Amino acid sequence: STILVLHGPNLNILGTREPEVYGHETLNDIDDRLRQQAADQGHHLLHLQSNAEYELIERIHEARAEGVDYIIINPAAFTHTSIALRDAMLASGIPFIEVHLSNVHARESFRHHSYFSDIADGVICGLGSQGYDLALQAALQRIHR
Ligand code: DQA
Repeated sequence: STILVLHGPNLNILGTREPEVYGHETLNDIDDRLRQQAADQGHHLLHLQSNAEYELIERIHEARAEGVDYIIINPAAFTHTSIALRDAMLASGIPFIEVHLSNVHARESFRHHSYFSDIADGVICGLGSQGYDLALQAALQRIHR
């Protein structure tokens, strides 16, 4: 099966972006590891990072046409702002897990609300990049069921 990992704005500068909050790993480190884990279990992992809302939306539309089985998404700041991205996820009908590196609930109150959590299969936050590994593990189990 095919899993799509989507990363929102400012995650391209992971590694140097507030490392005390987001860690020292780069996005490439994370994507490479996830791709390898998926491949080891016979699955195909695609990924996209974008700083542009419309690019993420277009990718979600494509995912539907492509037959992507599952999405792992860190919408980054769009988590707290984007009804458009939420609507794209709803329209796609593709099940997904929401991931955040940091514990958004221990941060500013504007990070406490997510436009995705109520429509996600699950939400993982505060565990750093391990959150993506756990999300992938859960996604693969759910696809198999
Ligand atoms: C984030 C948390 C968001 O509040 C923030 O805007 C991000 C990253 C995280 O992974 O912890 O850009 O999604």
